[in-house]
Amino acid sequence: MRIVITGGFGFLGREITETLLRTRTHRGLPIDRLVLTDRYVPAGAAEAADPLVEIVRGDLAECLDEVFAEPVDVLIHLAAAVSAECEADFDLGMSANLDTTRGLLEAARAQSAAGGPVPRLVFSSSVAVYGSDPALPLPPVVGESTLPTPRSSYGIQKLVCEQLVADYTRKGFVDGRVARLMTVSVRPGKPNAAASGFLSGIVREPLAGLPAICPVRPDLRVALASPRRTVEGILRIAEAERGTGKGRLDGGLPVNLPALTVSVAEMLATLRRVAGDAVADLVTVAPDHAVEAVVGSWPSVFDNTRAAALGLKPDPSFESVVRGYLADHPDAIRVGVSPAAERRDPDL
Ligand SMILES: NC(=O)c1ccc[n+]([C@@H]2O[C@H](COP(=O)([O-])OP(=O)(O)OC[C@H]3O[C@@H](n4cnc5c(N)ncnc54)[C@H](O)[C@@H]3O)[C@@H](O)[C@H]2O)c1
Repeated sequence: MRIVITGGFGFLGREITETLLRTRTHRGLPIDRLVLTDRYVPAGAAEAADPLVEIVRGDLAECLDEVFAEPVDVLIHLAAAVSAECEADFDLGMSANLDTTRGLLEAARAQSAAGGPVPRLVFSSSVAVYGSDPALPLPPVVGESTLPTPRSSYGIQKLVCEQLVADYTRKGFVDGRVARLMTVSVRPGKPNAAASGFLSGIVREPLAGLPAICPVRPDLRVALASPRRTVEGILRIAEAERGTGKGRLDGGLPVNLPALTVSVAEMLATLRRVAGDAVADLVTVAPDHAVEAVVGSWPSVFDNTRAAALGLKPDPSFESVVRGYLADHPDAIRVGVSPAAERRDPDL
């Protein structure tokens, strides 16, 4: 089986790669090749040493011939420009998110039209497809049947691509699936240009001994998922066979990955409880209306029935999310946190 991960050296790409290189199987079959494609490949990337891994470096739109030089069985499409980038640079978002996805779908279609395998394609969409239109406010609990009315260029681009994936699937060109990701927290490493980036930064930076700004009012409620739950969700959607019943993917609708609903105030209180006052005091609340307008337009409470049918569950608490981060990234912690904090999420 030849699996391609676009955006393979991004945050989630590396997490998924780590999982697949550990299991070395997908849907019970051995992985023969794991192609990681990204325009940015870090020097000395450990993945490169694995005999299963092939790296295709460059802008995805220009690398499609190389990606499809051998038959592709599974495509996990993660490469994208993030939300604040797309608001700041309309052309970048249209090209990186919309045009590139269309190009990828066309390349997949060409493979199946030429008698090759019909690739299974997982598109990583986002909670940002939802937004509250004044004429059509979101219901208190959002599900897949809620009409998405995105309020950002990024959300619009994700929604258009969802529809393209649905139609390429209906036509039999690909076997497409859509995972709508919640905001992933706590994201390790450096801050990124996502409007929701602070939802990791207000935990990650203080734990590293650095100040952090919280640009929204603390009573704002958000929908989060840990990296582990997110990777589990993407891979479960990739693996699921179609049909009805537990563990199967029915219909063509996207799946909203399970959401942990939490207020920003609860996140900050959790940080204080787990890491102490000195760490929590590194966060300054300074609302930024531009950030609040984007993040505040996303729903925070989800009906997780569809994800639950695939055996997916939300993180049990934000404390478990923070403790998971502490356990997985001990090198990123610059402050004393009690060893009890290293307990793992009991569900994982
Ligand atoms: N992380 C989250 O909180 C979150 C939430 C919702 C949706 N998503 C979606 O999940 C996917 C992965 O997210 P992530 O957090 O890993 O993002 P990321 O920014 O860490 O990684 C994306 C990777 O894609 C690469 N890339 C972007 N455009 C490219 C192009 N045109 N050609 C080649 N490479 C390109 C980048 O170099 C980067 O390494 C994205 O599609 C994102 O929109 C993420």
